[in-house]
Amino acid sequence: MERADAILLLQEHVVKESLMAHCRATAAIMRATAGALDEDADLWEVIGILHDIDYEEVDGDMQCHGNAGAALLLAAGLGEEVAGPVRRHNFETYGDTDTPVDTALTAADNMSGLVIACAMVKGGRLSEVTAKTVKKKVKDKAFAAGCNRDRIRRIETYMELPAYYALSVAALQNIKEDLGLS
Ligand SMILES: [Fe+2]
Repeated sequence: MERADAILLLQEHVVKESLMAHCRATAAIMRATAGALDEDADLWEVIGILHDIDYEEVDGDMQCHGNAGAALLLAAGLGEEVAGPVRRHNFETYGDTDTPVDTALTAADNMSGLVIACAMVKGGRLSEVTAKTVKKKVKDKAFAAGCNRDRIRRIETYMELPAYYALSVAALQNIKEDLGLS
């Protein structure tokens, strides 16, 4: 599936601007991570775009989140290479693996929120956020407390954390207008 088609499919199921931005941000980090790891960047980006496609429809039922998304994607004609990571990113319910794509998805899912939160404390200016900003804020447990640091750290199996912070910041700066940031 092409990126543009993935966004259209997401828009059929997601209304909230903040959730759209979260999916776009997670996708941008997934694409950059795939590039760094010599993986399929187009595929990883699509997985990032679609990972929370069921979020509004499950309406807080975390037992269904992920599985409902995977079912929806399979019904839409996508394969297990997309549906599997989408299902398993709800690692608490559907089990966890340390494959590159699963590790990257749960890391990006949390990293995206952290970088956006860094921009918000700078008045929405993502251009002022650096890897150093992220490194400092990651240590502050009260900051963006919903962003799971353990999931971010798991990327260390594949790359150094400072490199991951830099890659994530650059990826989001690339799409900052899509995120409503400057
Ligand atoms: Fe997410």
